[in-house]
Amino acid sequence: MSKLVTVSNRVALPSQLQAAQGGLAVGLRAALEDSGGVWFGWDGGIDEKVSGPREPQVQEHNGVRYATLRLSREEYNLYYLGFANQVLWPLFHYRMSFVHCNNARLEGYWRVNRLFAERLPALLEGDELIWVHDYHFIPLGELLREQGVTAPIGFFLHTPFPPWDILRALQDYETFLRAMCRYDLVGFQTAIDRDNFLECLRHLDPQPAALPQAEVFPIGIDVDQVANAARRGFNSQQGRRLEQSLRDRRLVIGVDRLDYSKGLRNRFESYELLLESHPEHRSDVVYLQIAPVSRGDVPEYEEIRQYLEYMAGHINGRFAEYDWVPLRYINRGFHRANVLGFLARAHVGLVTPMRDGMNLVAKEFVAAQTPDNPGALVLSMHAGAAEELDGAIKVNPYNVDDVVTGLHNALTMPLSERRERWEQMIEALRHNDIQRWRLSFVDALQNAYRTRATEV
Ligand code: G6P
Repeated sequence: MSKLVTVSNRVALPSQLQAAQGGLAVGLRAALEDSGGVWFGWDGGIDEKVSGPREPQVQEHNGVRYATLRLSREEYNLYYLGFANQVLWPLFHYRMSFVHCNNARLEGYWRVNRLFAERLPALLEGDELIWVHDYHFIPLGELLREQGVTAPIGFFLHTPFPPWDILRALQDYETFLRAMCRYDLVGFQTAIDRDNFLECLRHLDPQPAALPQAEVFPIGIDVDQVANAARRGFNSQQGRRLEQSLRDRRLVIGVDRLDYSKGLRNRFESYELLLESHPEHRSDVVYLQIAPVSRGDVPEYEEIRQYLEYMAGHINGRFAEYDWVPLRYINRGFHRANVLGFLARAHVGLVTPMRDGMNLVAKEFVAAQTPDNPGALVLSMHAGAAEELDGAIKVNPYNVDDVVTGLHNALTMPLSERRERWEQMIEALRHNDIQRWRLSFVDALQNAYRTRATEV
């Protein structure tokens, strides 16, 4: 098995093993520990003094070398907050009015990509596969080739990829598309994303000399690991405290980074509507929304935060009883086992993004449930996970009434139907787990590299 060198903006350092993390970090750690290798990226910190070239910090844990660079304040503002999170993220989630581009951000993005491309070769030992992740590092493959790197290089996009007419709002989008063509393999979460990419390539004039292999690799989870951690969390002191606090009421749960793509506005509005239109659920249901603050320096994230604070107060003010609070809204993360334990405790998982690359919380909710009395999953049709999870109650978050109906169905669904749906979902998760995601990507990368080599 070849060693892997993975590059992603966010690196889950060994010291952060228990912390709350996004889907990419969770998925990648499992993959890397399996094969050994290097994980290269940003350490999450800002160095007020640094500028220009710098050496990565390297540490080793469980057979994986973690190499990280620190960003300057300017790089953080232009590359991470600016271009990655106020241009590419909203664009890739079809939110064009949230795109705020300027030349400084665009150049800052390329500068940081160049910085990483210049530092990576020294970390290579030979005979590795390089796997670049996500929208922060789209041009990295091309820049690595310019550094003389000859290893196979693949790219996986964890977010959606938009249709051509949306992508065109991106300054220099053709340069980005051509940079993507320099990878041996480009991977997407769903067929929709891959097809959008291929359609974008058809608009390139002139056509690139060589087109990359473009395939679909839906990211999965380690089902047993999640189930075991969920058991631990369920039986932990925190799990029991949650149980006691519920007093036999049924728990609806949402766990999301506080991001406008997650559909939290509509989710809160739908919950209010549920309590209004279905009074039988009042005093019987508790909705727990865990939403750790994310990218809080971006104005749109601050705005949604304020709206959710208003809505939480409004819903509780309107419906609470002296002995019942309908909505528990928390802006911080919990240790992974605790969150999984909370998911295990819930009767309904509420996952309603407006658009999402995959959404691993949906998958974790299913894996945390047990066969005897599984909860129901209400899932947005616009999450990548909806392609695999046919047993979910699929809803369109753009229509609050649809979410209300989905929630009501979930709360009233007979056990036999919940079991049947859960069986379908857990089978899909076992069939396409995190192991398979990594192995099939690596396998396809090796094949694509060999094919390209014989073509040249
Ligand atoms: C999503 C992205 C990841 C990102 C994560 C957390 O899952 O696909 O690339 O790391 O969100 O966001 P953050 O900006 O905190 O890294």
